[in-house]
Amino acid sequence: MPATDGYRDVASTDDSTHIEASPGVVVTREIGGQGFRIDEATRRGLLQWMQTALLSAHHFDDLSGRIEIVEGFLEPIEGFALYWLARNWRAPGRVVEIGSFKGRSTCWLAAACKERGDGKVTAIDHFRGSPEHGAGGSHADPDIAAEGSTLPVFCRNLQGVELLDFVEVRVGSCEEVSRSWREPIRLLFLDADHDGDAVARQVAAWAPFLGRHALVAFHDVQVWPGVTEVYTRLRDDTTHWRELAQIKSLGVLEVIADGPGPGSA
Ligand SMILES: C[S@@+](CC[C@H](N)C(=O)[O-])C[C@H]1O[C@@H](n2cnc3c(N)ncnc32)[C@H](O)[C@@H]1O
Repeated sequence: MPATDGYRDVASTDDSTHIEASPGVVVTREIGGQGFRIDEATRRGLLQWMQTALLSAHHFDDLSGRIEIVEGFLEPIEGFALYWLARNWRAPGRVVEIGSFKGRSTCWLAAACKERGDGKVTAIDHFRGSPEHGAGGSHADPDIAAEGSTLPVFCRNLQGVELLDFVEVRVGSCEEVSRSWREPIRLLFLDADHDGDAVARQVAAWAPFLGRHALVAFHDVQVWPGVTEVYTRLRDDTTHWRELAQIKSLGVLEVIADGPGPGSA
């Protein structure tokens, strides 16, 4: 291969890969006779990206290994996405969860608050379960049958993973709690009653606290019809909302307009 300005060609045998990298030198890499060239800045960028990806994978393993013992409905990759957004999203305000159950999603959000070092996740739940958790429901729950509440097991679970200090628990219905709420919210995670009207009421109750760039994450999109219907309607209102991501059944919308009304149902 002829030498080209700015590039150093590297000989290689069929299957060998031979990289010469020194500062400022562009590297040519040959694999199986197919050569490609990569400049030093790109090579460094790739290495950095790989390092970040490996660290994230390691962190994911560590967190999911600890949190998966907590009973709940969130899949690890959904939990990690929530964790990542709660930790890194640059908007002002609190992290609020509506629908905590036994604390699985709360753990991911609390881990993010702990690592970010500024505050706690507010976990709102009456802890009496959703309609499906009652006797004869599709997800009938033994703790609710026995104790009428998942609050004791929620506290034990958060304590068990040493994250209870990063949670502010508000026991009550989300509509009640919203009436005395005053602070802006940067990430609102909705995972309570999955009926369409209930989800719409939840969004409307919390919309006044969502400024531009705030995020609302919905669990069970494409799983529960009520959640899917509200999520789709808001996502299609592109004046107020932008879909940031959908990771399995976790749909995340960003508020893109100022002023009240992004949740008006
Ligand atoms: C599907 S579970 C939440 C699962 C949890 N996020 C997890 O990761 O496992 C739904 C929770 O919402 C709560 N809930 C239902 N309706 C509510 C309401 N109006 N206000 C507050 N909590 C409610 C229930 O008590 C139940 O614990």
